[in-house]
Amino acid sequence: MKVKNSYRLQGFIPILSFVVVLFIVPKTCKSSSFTDKFDEKLLIKPLPSGHVYTLFQFVVQKDLNRNDNNPFHHFRLFPRSLGEIIFQHDVQELHFSLTQGLWRYEKWGYPTRSAPPGAELWALFKGNASEITSNWKKLTHMLSGQFCASLNFIEDSNTAIPKHSFRPEGAVPFDHPYNSSYVRYSALPHEIVCTENLTPFRKLLPCGAQAGLSTLLNALNIFSAHYVSLAVDVRQVCKKDCSEIALELIQSVSIVFDPPVQQLKKQDWSFVKLFGSSLLSTCPVATTSQVFVDITSNKSGVPFVLNSKPRKIIKEKFEIYDGYMEENEYAFYDLKKMFQETKYVNIGSNYNSIHIYGIIPSPVLYVDRKVSGYGQEQGGIHCTFYNNHPKKSLKILYFDMIPWYMRLYSHTLTVKNGNKVIDPDYLYYQPAKDRSRPHHLELVLTLPPNSKSEMSIEFDFAFLKWTEYPPDANHGFYAGSAVISVLLDSARNFSRFPESGNNGIDKGNFLRIYTQILLVSLPTPDFSMPYNVICLTCTVVALAFGPIHNITTKSLQPIEDNKENSFIAKLKRKLKKLWRSKEDDKTIIVNEQDTKKTQ
Ligand SMILES: *[C@@H]1O[C@H](CO)[C@@H](O)[C@H](O)[C@H]1NC(C)=O
Ligand SMILES: *[C@@H]1O[C@H](CO)[C@@H](O)[C@H](O)[C@H]1NC(C)=O
Ligand SMILES: *[C@@H]1O[C@H](CO)[C@@H](O)[C@H](O)[C@H]1NC(C)=O
Ligand SMILES: *[C@@H]1O[C@H](CO)[C@@H](O)[C@H](O)[C@H]1NC(C)=O
Ligand SMILES: *[C@@H]1O[C@H](CO)[C@@H](O)[C@H](O)[C@H]1NC(C)=O
Repeated sequence: MKVKNSYRLQGFIPILSFVVVLFIVPKTCKSSSFTDKFDEKLLIKPLPSGHVYTLFQFVVQKDLNRNDNNPFHHFRLFPRSLGEIIFQHDVQELHFSLTQGLWRYEKWGYPTRSAPPGAELWALFKGNASEITSNWKKLTHMLSGQFCASLNFIEDSNTAIPKHSFRPEGAVPFDHPYNSSYVRYSALPHEIVCTENLTPFRKLLPCGAQAGLSTLLNALNIFSAHYVSLAVDVRQVCKKDCSEIALELIQSVSIVFDPPVQQLKKQDWSFVKLFGSSLLSTCPVATTSQVFVDITSNKSGVPFVLNSKPRKIIKEKFEIYDGYMEENEYAFYDLKKMFQETKYVNIGSNYNSIHIYGIIPSPVLYVDRKVSGYGQEQGGIHCTFYNNHPKKSLKILYFDMIPWYMRLYSHTLTVKNGNKVIDPDYLYYQPAKDRSRPHHLELVLTLPPNSKSEMSIEFDFAFLKWTEYPPDANHGFYAGSAVISVLLDSARNFSRFPESGNNGIDKGNFLRIYTQILLVSLPTPDFSMPYNVICLTCTVVALAFGPIHNITTKSLQPIEDNKENSFIAKLKRKLKKLWRSKEDDKTIIVNEQDTKKTQ
């Protein structure tokens, strides 16, 4: 039986010239052997800024039989807990990241997997459209338990339905073509990433934290790095020309270290220096265990030597523009082969001299976003796009989800290049609804070559109800990153694994850039006033309480009225003291007479 490999471009082609190619899976699908596959790989790239970028990628593929109603009756390497969550909620694709720190595109180039600071989750659903909202809610709650992250704070007020910015990255079935109303996007910029997120993340791996490259993920070392990002991507991929499909789970960990600070100004790195230990094993169930070191910078920067001999050098050529070619070089290590000869592996490199800090040529596109304005009444969002391509204009897709408490004025939206106004090729704006929907802005812009374009929009701050303020209200409120999607025409400044065939899904030079998150301070009531009042009242109550309690808890008893007797008795005693003689009787009589007189 011969199955045709049919694919077609879908969606918003007239406006966006870039669209991820979607493979259509034929309905007649016959699978023979069901084998799960696991691969682990590590990319190390010394960056021109002196930092070292390391990317771990753990890939599990599980063959799907399209006639099988529940693929998680039988599972081998794919984590069942995650698989069941995906299966139960009719999820076609899931993309989730937890990040600490900001990726500096202008200094570090482009990462393999971009992620915004904090948590980001987007999913593409299939099945019944009326159930998506409830599925999304249940999905966020389940994932929040799965990854110990506060994804349960995702609600309608911070969820958007992106029109064009988030498209499927894997194969999409023929009977269920991509429809943007099936996508949900949300981000929590305030989320903090810590060891408690790493532990459940590692538990999903077939070898856990027991063996393989994941043993290098030492919480103490990686959480003291400049940038840490954990990501989980689930999608469906084609096998054998799309006659079969598989469910693919990619777990990636991106870390950026700063060796010159620790290694006496040298960019020296090694497993021990970066992760605190050398590698002692590979995961036994992994098909391949590979390490790639990007050694392209040996030619341009400070020369270095690798401490162990690579198995081979991989060279990859790519075009910059007008037929001008550039080459990336990678040293390749096959860990499975290395462990046949040694007991431990500590790949590293030693630099000849100290790192020289200089001006780094920035990549083709990068973006800067800020909050403008002052005071607590009005503000604005100001975004600067840099297109460094000398000749070509760039078409970008800008997506921004702005919280409802920043009340945007859509008429103030302007995009300018110098004094020239740039008209957006496409504009989608959905205003927010208080407490139930964020602002949603999507723009397609054409940036002129070698230019700096500026976009700005103004807003008012809303005054929240007093119970809506968090305990640290004066800290301010976060607004998530804007997302810029673009299809670049060269792979310059990209960091990626060589020969990454990506399972037949060629993303081209598709790139997603996340801007800085924004911190705005909303008008905050003086929360110290109630505090003062509470303090004062408490003091007054405390002072008053004692005596009142004293008085009210003691029972009142009338004192018997025998004043005369007692008075006489007193006098008797006094007189006894005075006289101390035998003439007691006389004196008593005298005194009795006296008292009668006085009365
Ligand atoms: C971008 O690539 C160019 C040429 O390969 C290189 O000189 C430059 O340092 C790179 N910039 C960054 C930020 O990686
Ligand atoms: C979708 O779900 C609704 C309510 O659960 C149900 O009435 C409807 O028949 C379902 N549609 C399909 C196509 O399954
Ligand atoms: C996408 O799905 C929505 C809701 O089910 C439907 O109304 C709309 O027509 C669909 N769009 C396309 C292009 O199929
Ligand atoms: C880097 O270049 C130097 C010569 O400048 C060479 O001796 C060294 O082997 C190179 N390092 C790598 C990893 O290729
Ligand atoms: C309660 O009253 C008694 C006298 O009736 C007094 O000695 C005592 O100090 C009082 N205690 C307080 C807490 O006021």
